[in-house]
Amino acid sequence: MEIQTIKSGEFLSIDGPANVRVIEGKIYVLGVEYGPGNSFTVMRGRRIITKALSDSKVELIVGPDGGFEKISGTDEVLDAWDKALSSISLNGSIIIVLGAMDVGKTTITTILANKGIKEGLKVGIIDGDPGQNDIGPPTTVSSAIAEKFITHLAQLRSLRTMFVKTTSIEHVWGYVLDSILKLIEDLRNNYRVNTVIINTDGWVSEPPAVSFKLEMVRRVGADYIIVIRREREVEDLISKLVNAYGNRVFVLPAPPNAKIRDRDDRKIRREMGYSKYLMPSRDLSISIVEKPIVNLPLFRGIRYDKYMLSLIRRNIGPITYVEQWGNVAVAIGNVNEFQIRNLGNVSVAILPMNWEKGLLVALEDRDDYLLALGMLRKIYYNTGKAIVTVSKSFNEEGKIDHIRLGMIRLNENFEEVDKVLYVNKIESMLSSQKIAIKS
Ligand SMILES: Nc1ncnc2c1ncn2[C@@H]1O[C@H](COP(=O)(O)OP(=O)(O)O)[C@@H](O)[C@H]1O
Ligand SMILES: [Mg+2]
Repeated sequence: MEIQTIKSGEFLSIDGPANVRVIEGKIYVLGVEYGPGNSFTVMRGRRIITKALSDSKVELIVGPDGGFEKISGTDEVLDAWDKALSSISLNGSIIIVLGAMDVGKTTITTILANKGIKEGLKVGIIDGDPGQNDIGPPTTVSSAIAEKFITHLAQLRSLRTMFVKTTSIEHVWGYVLDSILKLIEDLRNNYRVNTVIINTDGWVSEPPAVSFKLEMVRRVGADYIIVIRREREVEDLISKLVNAYGNRVFVLPAPPNAKIRDRDDRKIRREMGYSKYLMPSRDLSISIVEKPIVNLPLFRGIRYDKYMLSLIRRNIGPITYVEQWGNVAVAIGNVNEFQIRNLGNVSVAILPMNWEKGLLVALEDRDDYLLALGMLRKIYYNTGKAIVTVSKSFNEEGKIDHIRLGMIRLNENFEEVDKVLYVNKIESMLSSQKIAIKS
């Protein structure tokens, strides 16, 4: 335990894990003033900059890898953020926070949430970053309601979570956008929140990313658009936003000395993320006849008899199972990689044996909300059963309406080993066939 004095106007940078308690004076932390007796935590791997509003004394308990340091002079970023954010009126608004990776989106979202709480508002928050979702598991977007001051979004309990299949947003952005819109509607209609703050993913530079973000801003009907700029990575997005929305766009600087996590570190965090949601685990046997896989509705199509099977085998080689929906068929065969063959006017997607092993899946309720993440182990084509590994603590089996396949393969330790792009390919082939999946 250490005591630190900070003079009025001075900044203290704190790296987590740390717990901080104010003994004397008043310090400003993420939109909130903390006085004597108040305390807050800084999570591991995160940095929070605080500012003394009067001569203050704080007590710090710092964990391994944590630390703190006084910053002399001014912190332009903090002051610039506060100045810009003070002109935002939260009540009745939808606010969206945009920017590349590690520029401070989550931090700004936290500050805005605290400001809303300070005003007595019911604050709805959406974490729309499936790669770094602070409220729910990776591969999802989530909503929450903030009721007391926070220093991290991870302190919020998730209200609803939607599975978007992968952390690579470029493959699923349409579904991510639909999910965010659904979460906003839910927060507004079912929980009557006064404001919605949307944290977004860091995909901002490439042309499709710019289109995605513009589409998101338009469809959510954002009243305020906050863009955090580090260098020139968001120039294109900013100019298009300013063109369309003028003074509703606020461009803020990124902290110059933010901790930059590298990609490996992110991957490690995500892996910890999956085991966190799956361990300790148990296996569940699910009838996919009754609870279909929505993006590959096995047992809802036409199954072939022996004669047809042998006919197909003669054309496309050894296969153990085929099912057809309209002009699309899925076959399980002796292939090493996913492939598509055309047989007359039917496109046959051929999957390797054990293609399902280790696939991340979602168990969803009838409103498509996530009940639990799982890892698919095996599909039995003779009985229509799937074996899915879930967390031992999962106890909502009765609410399972359907399964959704993800695009990530896990190993036995629930570590990501592969991205499985053909899930999307099959899904788009099938979606053109107008199949009634839900009963
Ligand atoms: N004013 C600041 N100065 C230095 N580091 C900061 C500041 N604000 C936030 N950080 C740190 O920068 C890192 C990235 O911030 P974060 O809000 O997680 O960014 P994003 O959500 O855009 O990835 C975090 O470790 C955070 O604690
Ligand atoms: Mg973030």
